[in-house]
Amino acid sequence: MTALTLSTSGAAALRADAIVVGVAKSAKGPVVAPGAEAVDKAFDGKLASVLETLGATGGEGEVTKLPAPSGLKSPVVLAVGLGTALDKDDAYSAESLRRAAGAAARALHGFKKAGFALPVEAVEDAAAIAEGALLGAYAFTAYQGGEKDGKGEKSGSGVKEPLAEIAVLGGKPRDKAFKAAAERALALTEEINRARDLVNTPPNDLYPESFAAVVAAAGKEHGLKVQVLDEKSLTKGGYGGILGVGQGSEHGPRLVKLAYTHPKAEKTLAFVGKGITYDSGGISLKPAGHNETMKCDMAGAAAVFAAVITAARLGLRVNVTGWLALAENMPSGGAVRPGDVLRMYSGKTVEVLNTDAEGRLVLADALTRASEERPDAIVDVATLTGAMVLALGNRTFGIMGNDESFRTAIHEIAEEAGEQSWPMPLPAELRKGMDSPTADIANMGERMGGGLVAGLFLQEFVGEDIAWAHLDIAGPAFNDGGPFGYTPKGGTGSAVRTLVALAERTAAGDLG
Ligand code: BES
Ligand code: MN
Ligand code: ZN
Repeated sequence: MTALTLSTSGAAALRADAIVVGVAKSAKGPVVAPGAEAVDKAFDGKLASVLETLGATGGEGEVTKLPAPSGLKSPVVLAVGLGTALDKDDAYSAESLRRAAGAAARALHGFKKAGFALPVEAVEDAAAIAEGALLGAYAFTAYQGGEKDGKGEKSGSGVKEPLAEIAVLGGKPRDKAFKAAAERALALTEEINRARDLVNTPPNDLYPESFAAVVAAAGKEHGLKVQVLDEKSLTKGGYGGILGVGQGSEHGPRLVKLAYTHPKAEKTLAFVGKGITYDSGGISLKPAGHNETMKCDMAGAAAVFAAVITAARLGLRVNVTGWLALAENMPSGGAVRPGDVLRMYSGKTVEVLNTDAEGRLVLADALTRASEERPDAIVDVATLTGAMVLALGNRTFGIMGNDESFRTAIHEIAEEAGEQSWPMPLPAELRKGMDSPTADIANMGERMGGGLVAGLFLQEFVGEDIAWAHLDIAGPAFNDGGPFGYTPKGGTGSAVRTLVALAERTAAGDLG
């Protein structure tokens, strides 16, 4: 795990393995960003022209490594592109700082300690730099290269470990607000990185029972109440959706409740996560080419888990209950068939027309169960539909819900937290496509607007008069492409920042 400090020393005096500075794009070529004055001085004020000679432009995410001149205590200078300074007052947005710090940290895998001398005008800037750097300093190496050799590398394997220590320069280390921001950034990013680990863990090791054990251990560590319903209790409770999806697997399903309470809380939030530890499609089997990354289908549950633990670590004055609907969707002689009718926890019956539309089945039971406790609001998070990926691409999640102002609030909170999202409607006319001749509803409807159809299905299982939002993170949860900014390949930790920010706002009484 990476350590974080707010450094009191200047960029020239800091003893590290590398100093990170910012470089921005301008009409006259690259310009050195504020925070790098001492480093620029060591280059006789010529850092910008040195960078230009090397072909640097200051474009977003661009990374240039230089040997440090004498006068610096660190041997390497890394200049990271901030893009164009956007604001009218020439300030860098929190997200551009976050991304630049992340790109720099990624380029420093194999280094031990780095100082980040990026522009800090306010505490939010230091927080963004810390977050980006800590999220960039992530690698999933658990299954590679044997033991570590103590040099930041796994012995002879070429597998490089991320930075062990990050020092953020330019802040006020003794200021209460800066200290709190650093603590928050560390807790948040450690939990995001843990969610990423869970998503990246192969499905032969992460299945409902082992996932539940991880949650139980973490819950215990942080003094939270954890309740795990196994197959027996699920059967007794009548959780037909979760049981139906899980019945084809050797690994039985679980419903995990993880509750954080604050003695002075005035509000309670419920977070519900889709936790399909592997989605083969079931009897409606996915074709090759569509199942290789389906270990990511529990990313919603991982995000919920991470958010509840973060809320606890930050001691937020709000109650947050996480519901993790865990199952493995597999085909077998015992698997649910297309044509089967399931009786859900709510009592409603569902005709399963496509066993690959399994997420809505496990979520439905969890939503009904969460509703019984009458929380002030429910947010579910799910890698639910390919249709949402077609609609919004790989970096943006869709937000649906039964309350427009809540949906809007979540969109704004996500934006501020640095997560791309977009509000989506739940058009009532799409409901009739799920009419079933046999049951109360079918688990599939029209193909067009498939993400919204799934949202309409879920809505039927949310309790009366409870504000509810549904985040379809099928696009951003897992990065199949190359890494960028603070986003690694593989699991991304999508939606954790949004859920945590929502809990913080609720604790502060900002939401009705
Ligand atoms: N887990 C998938 C959705 C998904 C697709 C997640 C791509 C991440 C990336 C989900 O269970 C699924 O299979 N959905 C079907 C629903 C359809 C059968 C109604 C889909 O989107 O095709
Ligand atoms: Mn599926
Ligand atoms: Zn799925």
